[in-house]
Amino acid sequence: MNHATTPEHLQLDLTWQEPIPQPGVAAAMALMESGKLHRYGETGAKPGEAASLEADFAAEMGMPYCIAMNSCGSAMFAALRCSGVRPGDMVLSNCFTLAPVPGAIAHAGAVPVLVDVTEDLLIDLDDLRAKAQASGAKTLLLSHMRGHICNMDALSAVCAEFGIRLIEDCAHTMGAGWNGKASGTWGIAGCFSLQSYKHANSGEGGLLVTHDADLAAQAVLLSGSYMLYASHVARPGPEVFERWKYHTPNFSLRMSNLPAALARAQLGAVLKDRCARWNQRYAWLHDALMDAPHIRLPLRPPQEQFVGSSLQFSLVGMDRAQMQAAIAACARSGVHIKWFGADEPVGFTSVWQHWRYFGQAQSLPRAEAVLGGLCDLRLPLSLTQTDCETIGQIIRRAVHAAQTSG
Ligand SMILES: Cc1ncc(COP(=O)(O)O)c(C=O)c1O
Repeated sequence: MNHATTPEHLQLDLTWQEPIPQPGVAAAMALMESGKLHRYGETGAKPGEAASLEADFAAEMGMPYCIAMNSCGSAMFAALRCSGVRPGDMVLSNCFTLAPVPGAIAHAGAVPVLVDVTEDLLIDLDDLRAKAQASGAKTLLLSHMRGHICNMDALSAVCAEFGIRLIEDCAHTMGAGWNGKASGTWGIAGCFSLQSYKHANSGEGGLLVTHDADLAAQAVLLSGSYMLYASHVARPGPEVFERWKYHTPNFSLRMSNLPAALARAQLGAVLKDRCARWNQRYAWLHDALMDAPHIRLPLRPPQEQFVGSSLQFSLVGMDRAQMQAAIAACARSGVHIKWFGADEPVGFTSVWQHWRYFGQAQSLPRAEAVLGGLCDLRLPLSLTQTDCETIGQIIRRAVHAAQTSG
């Protein structure tokens, strides 16, 4: 490691990324030399990198269909639209998520019905039931925010009870699952991100998986396949496209071959290895914070096969000024923590009160309390055990100092 790990000041980059594996670099170089970056050619039958990525990911997920897009936000929009959501429809979604999720709902012209969050950062199933009943909404865009996966058996039962179609936002759960079933395979569609800070990194990109042939054909057309959809591999048969080709607009949200070449080299064994290393780092930092006063770590049941690429903890028994002081002290020591309690949206982090394009923010008293104290740290794979212990010490010291001085 090229950074010091003293308790006083940690010099490391929490935005550090793993390099692209060599086969991905080689495939990208070959593509650039060929100039064939656009995924569609009018002639030539050999599947390109984008079609091959779709086939590889579909096989990995055990799903028949996969559509590559330019982002997970686009994939979520496509899943909403192609499952029948139309402007003015209501869509249930977690209040604890990031801006691309409400953004996808806005893109579809739909109206969000936000569901409260538990102190373990999961969608509140009692609130989901109450809001499904009150709103009559028939779609749930479930965000496994920061990789926290609720009891999917219980959630599926609520969806079945109210006839709700489930779309999963798996931006933080590639490689994860609940009770042995992969995240992204529970509903009618699963949407994954390939943005740099996700589990496979192509800079930008999204993957939609589904077992619904009509949804898949519409998503292929909508992503911008012109009438070249036959060059997709993980797609339904031509008769399904016949049903949709005159009725689906082209939104030009497709992926090009270059990010696909980078992403393909990060699936399979590479992804598995990364997930295991993230979980090791999560365990190290979790242990370093476990018994710290004023810090609460979310409880995670054994059925939740999460990928610990980030860690969240709540500051408890502290007022806002003390929280701010603790976070500022951590930053001075080189540990930059994201805080969901900030008044203003900062960096990647915003909360539901900031999404004012929907009008008046919905009242979510529990979310206000839970997110008010919620802290968030990315766990780059470059962290060593000593780094994690040092980060733990820095946070504990900063919280103690803020708490006793306040
Ligand atoms: C929870 C969550 N969902 C969805 C997305 C959307 O991913 P993308 O940036 O690929 O649109 C993000 C991106 O940061 C995210 O954090």
